[in-house]
Amino acid sequence: MSSPRYTQADQPARFAAAKTAGNARMLTTDYYDPSLLAGKRVAVTGANRGIGLALATELTAAGAKLVALVRQSSAALDALGPSELVTGVDVTDDAACSSIAALVSAPVDVLVNNAGYFYEPVERIDDGSLNFKEEMKMIDICALGPLRVTNAFFHAKLLQPGARVAMITSQGGSIGWRTVQNPTGGDYGHHMSKAAANMMSALVAQEMRQHGVSVGILHPGFNKTEMTKKYEEIWEVEGAVDPAVGAKRVLHEVGRIDMESTGKFINCEDGLEIPW
Ligand SMILES: NC(=O)c1ccc[n+]([C@@H]2O[C@H](COP(=O)([O-])OP(=O)(O)OC[C@H]3O[C@@H](n4cnc5c(N)ncnc54)[C@H](OP(=O)(O)O)[C@@H]3O)[C@@H](O)[C@H]2O)c1
Repeated sequence: MSSPRYTQADQPARFAAAKTAGNARMLTTDYYDPSLLAGKRVAVTGANRGIGLALATELTAAGAKLVALVRQSSAALDALGPSELVTGVDVTDDAACSSIAALVSAPVDVLVNNAGYFYEPVERIDDGSLNFKEEMKMIDICALGPLRVTNAFFHAKLLQPGARVAMITSQGGSIGWRTVQNPTGGDYGHHMSKAAANMMSALVAQEMRQHGVSVGILHPGFNKTEMTKKYEEIWEVEGAVDPAVGAKRVLHEVGRIDMESTGKFINCEDGLEIPW
């Protein structure tokens, strides 16, 4: 039987079905081959903590050359001894992103746009909790941020033909899934920012085709980070993983980005597509 095109919208049901079926692709990382990354130059934004730090750690273990782009470093990132560490990269800052051109020494094989932000309180209309300023901040960081960074890399000739760009967006950007995942609405800024990130990524994929650069649009799965701590009570029900596991899932999908798959929106938990 061929595998379905799309992953399942209902996350608790998705995780329960994986457990019932003993789905090794979702429950293990046995399929992950770090040798694919050995010697590759990989740039990661937000590499100082969370999924970005886990990606940095796994890349280092795999023998990749890590180019870490951060607002400020962390002890854990410093301890990895990145090949290059560029600080001051606030992805909302046009000038800071432009400065990447002078600060990254050579083209990269992969650019991972990972940095993101999710305002903590729930936002709703009916209880008066919308926060428009925070909504603009999420859109700026999650949608414009990766565009600024990708633009800077392209113009600095740091993305040569054959390079890959991984956009870490989220299943939260799927409009089609809102009826299942947000049956009573809410969290406007987060979902708008990730839907905008998906649109941006789809357009970047189209534009970059003619430059030989492929683009993956990746939901990293549910990871136990500071960002999702507010959902701690559902971590075990919905299959949240340690970011060390999430990083392997993401890097496996990074390895599958090519000119055939460019522009696809993929769930790194199972490698299947997510509908827009
Ligand atoms: N965790 C999940 O389950 C999950 C699910 C779906 C998608 N994602 C996406 O995965 C990515 C990483 O998430 P995470 O869980 O690792 O989040 P996190 O633990 O909150 O880490 C966020 C990272 O983004 C950086 N960042 C935030 N604002 C920035 C800015 N203006 N400029 C540059 N860097 C900035 C942070 O750096 P500072 O230390 O400087 O703040 C930090 O490195 C995000 O894009 C997120 O939306 C995560």
